Amino acid sequence: MAIQLKIDDRTYSVDADPDTPLLWILRDYLNLTGTKFGCGVAQCGTCTVLMDGSAIRSCVTPLSSIGNAEITTIQNQTDPLLKKVQEAWIDNDVIQCGYCQPGQIMNAVGLLKSNPHPSEEEIINAMDGNICRCGTYNRIKAAILAVSQGE
Ligand code: FES
Ligand code: FES
Repeated sequence: MAIQLKIDDRTYSVDADPDTPLLWILRDYLNLTGTKFGCGVAQCGTCTVLMDGSAIRSCVTPLSSIGNAEITTIQNQTDPLLKKVQEAWIDNDVIQCGYCQPGQIMNAVGLLKSNPHPSEEEIINAMDGNICRCGTYNRIKAAILAVSQGE
């Protein structure tokens, strides 16, 4: 049975097993490949998207649990905070290989939606589970601080 999903200001109809993880729906069913696959078991944060504004790991979020929630991905063109964070990422030259960065950015947006002015410690705690093999952590922290301070 087809399920309706609200993703990045569009409504999609998806005919998939209700147990299918959202990450698979995004990438394999809808070709929204901006969201990346890392570990597949909620350990790396690469697949992070927002569900009603809160960061979730799409690799372990089944289709059946989404209901009417709004999903926001790195490909969203209209979220003003996402745009600000992306600009701060560029200004702070955060990205190296880039693979983890969609998840890093979405986790940062989730943090800033719930806490617009996080302390350095709050940033470190919130970003702790998002792994970057290139070690861009300090620049990520600087970019988030810049957004929180309105720079
Ligand atoms: S791919 Fe989802 S947390 Fe690693
Ligand atoms: S930028 Fe390469 S894994 Fe993070």
